[in-house]
Amino acid sequence: MPNPEGATAPATLTYEGTTLELPVVRPTLGRTALDISAIGLKGLSVLDPGYADTAAYQSAITFVDGEEGRLYYRGYPVEQLATSTSFLDVAYLLINGELPTAQAADEFTGRVRDPKMVLHVGIERLFDAFPQSMHPMAMLAIATEALSAYADDGAKPDSPAGVQQAGVRLLSAMPIFTGYALSTVRGLPRGKSNRSLDYAEDLLQLCFAIPGSDHLPDNVTARALNTLLVLHADHELNCSTATLRMVASSGAGFYAGVSAAINALWGPLHGGANQEVIKMLQEIKESGRPLSYFIDKAKDKNDPFRLMGFGHRVYKTTDARAKVIRNIALDLVEKLAPQDPLLDIALDLEEVALADEYFISRRLYPNVDFYSGVIYRAIGFPDEMFTPLFVAGRTAGWVAHWLEMTSSSAKRIGRPTQIYTGPTERPVPKNRHEAAS
Ligand code: ACO
Repeated sequence: MPNPEGATAPATLTYEGTTLELPVVRPTLGRTALDISAIGLKGLSVLDPGYADTAAYQSAITFVDGEEGRLYYRGYPVEQLATSTSFLDVAYLLINGELPTAQAADEFTGRVRDPKMVLHVGIERLFDAFPQSMHPMAMLAIATEALSAYADDGAKPDSPAGVQQAGVRLLSAMPIFTGYALSTVRGLPRGKSNRSLDYAEDLLQLCFAIPGSDHLPDNVTARALNTLLVLHADHELNCSTATLRMVASSGAGFYAGVSAAINALWGPLHGGANQEVIKMLQEIKESGRPLSYFIDKAKDKNDPFRLMGFGHRVYKTTDARAKVIRNIALDLVEKLAPQDPLLDIALDLEEVALADEYFISRRLYPNVDFYSGVIYRAIGFPDEMFTPLFVAGRTAGWVAHWLEMTSSSAKRIGRPTQIYTGPTERPVPKNRHEAAS
């Protein structure tokens, strides 16, 4: 294992008279790790619920500094990229390790936006079969998996060229999937991708232009969506990316891995929180109750209610992305939906929670999902489309993680262990039905 700061004396673990040396692994940024991979040889394991302190991989893609509230893609602060870089340049950075030269950017954009990279008619038919009531996250997961039927580029997980091509195909398809999902939810005809537009513009026109019209999205909204895509592009080893890597470790294909990651992202404690935040803000508005009522509910351990869009496993001061998103919300909601009361409720709720001892002592702050839904709503997206928009950005990171994982020489099938708490061996009772009656 690489050890950027050179050799360090190993840590020692002593248990019941046995001493084990644990090599120290130093990252370029973040927590030092103890390599416990030999612990199983001594008949021991490690209990770490939610893998909160377990480093399962080495990765050079993204770093979250939870104490400082900073996020870096390949070393670049995300807030600098968010306001100055196109989403596809950031995707290139994540996948290839460096920002593209002008020529490389043209070439990469040309591949992703290639008009010949259209969806197979079989995928279109799939959307015909989806009922209007189906959640668009399910549509995206199924459509992504179905790509494997029409392109074999993602089938060989350890062929970097094939996976690069599959990544380009998926990035190319994602605005179309998003637009098709929205058309299905709304029961409207599907739009057509306009490859002369940039990524965010095309996604918007696929969602909102009336098919056949020349209506183009306005620049301010397209720029805001570009920033949101950049901010969502990667976030190191979160639940969905860990799922993607777990699938990759078994040797399954790329589209299967991304489909699994989409399903993991859907959960309300993860990417699905952006939809839940709006549900919560609406509930607050309609109830007419004071904010303190909801703060008390969130603090009550006997009540399952949580302040959605608050808290994070890694960020313990502020979420680097939430700061940028909050500013976009302030600008865009004012411009597009000044009459929407939900932004004001969110701002008030944030203020009350940040002054409350419960949230202060647990270091709970607004995360990426707290303000993003308010923006998507102002643009005109229905609530169930918020998490699919997260997918559109995160696809870039998933391609990068898949490539890094499958090209690593240290890859090993993911297989956590357990602390078994069930019965010890016992015989199956003879005449068990008689015994039960
Ligand atoms: N509201 C109320 N209490 C909370 C919240 C919240 N949103 N988040 C955490 N807490 C409390 C927990 O009850 C716990 O309290 P305790 O120490 O008294 O038992 C303490 O803070 C620590 O919380 P954990 O659940 O142990 O933290 P964990 O790291 O496991 O979970 C998570 C992180 C899932 C994000 C959590 O904060 C949460 O549920 N937030 C709301 C959902 C959400 O916004 N998810 C999106 C996260 S960003 C993303 O995934 C894209």
